[in-house]
Amino acid sequence: MATPTIPTKDNHIKHTPHTGPRHVAIIMDGNGRWATQRGRPRLFGHHAGARRVREVVETCPDIGVKYLTIFAFSTENWKRTQVEVAGLMNLFRRYIIKEARALQHFGVRVRFIGDRVRLDAKLIDLMNELEELTAGNSVVNLTIALNYGGRDEVARATKRLAQDVADGKLLPENVDEETLPKYLDTYVLPDPDLVIRTSGEARISNFLLWQSAYSEYEFIDTLWPDFGREEFTSLCAGYGGRERRFGGVNS
Ligand code: FPP
Repeated sequence: MATPTIPTKDNHIKHTPHTGPRHVAIIMDGNGRWATQRGRPRLFGHHAGARRVREVVETCPDIGVKYLTIFAFSTENWKRTQVEVAGLMNLFRRYIIKEARALQHFGVRVRFIGDRVRLDAKLIDLMNELEELTAGNSVVNLTIALNYGGRDEVARATKRLAQDVADGKLLPENVDEETLPKYLDTYVLPDPDLVIRTSGEARISNFLLWQSAYSEYEFIDTLWPDFGREEFTSLCAGYGGRERRFGGVNS
């Protein structure tokens, strides 16, 4: 791959070997507040938020990000009003229909993680179709977490693992740190290097609990509908300067 050009935080362009994050995960927070600040209903903010996704996806190849994972709907989000939940589900259906061609054209491979059982049949069909349509792409791997919760994912993985033990396919003494990730929704993805959360909240809210054990975190004040290429690029460039030791000591 060509050496990417990464703008530094002080906006000088420097040519540097790629030390930026390969996998970035984003908690897209602040849509509701963004809409409220404008005297509009919360769904207005979610629609504005959905429009930011394309710009962030299209920035990825320019800054060497191969994997982008975004938190679209959590297992806890069902507690929102029926109007907001229905509006979000409708938005996800419309997003897939509207964006499929652009995603395919741009070479994005789309995957969904999360528990599909509670989603409606039409949405599940669209998700499956988009995964199949884009399965041959590799420019960017976009993973959309939909009805996703980290604890729920670990519980579902454990259930499948336990079933394999019960079926005699796996011995309990062979279960180690390498075993469980194979049962997680993210089994084909590398762990995220950088997790970004917008809107000033410093929580991980049940997102990629297992996978983010050694991730760097950036909690930024920007509300998601105001997030874009420049800030994304700057955060990824900032990551390049950090030393990650994974619990060890670097020489
Ligand atoms: C959190 O903001 C955002 C969500 C629960 C929904 C995220 C969805 C999108 C960004 C748009 C759709 C995405 C795709 C992939 C089409 P919030 O509502 O909690 O905001 P608040 O904290 O200001 O209330």
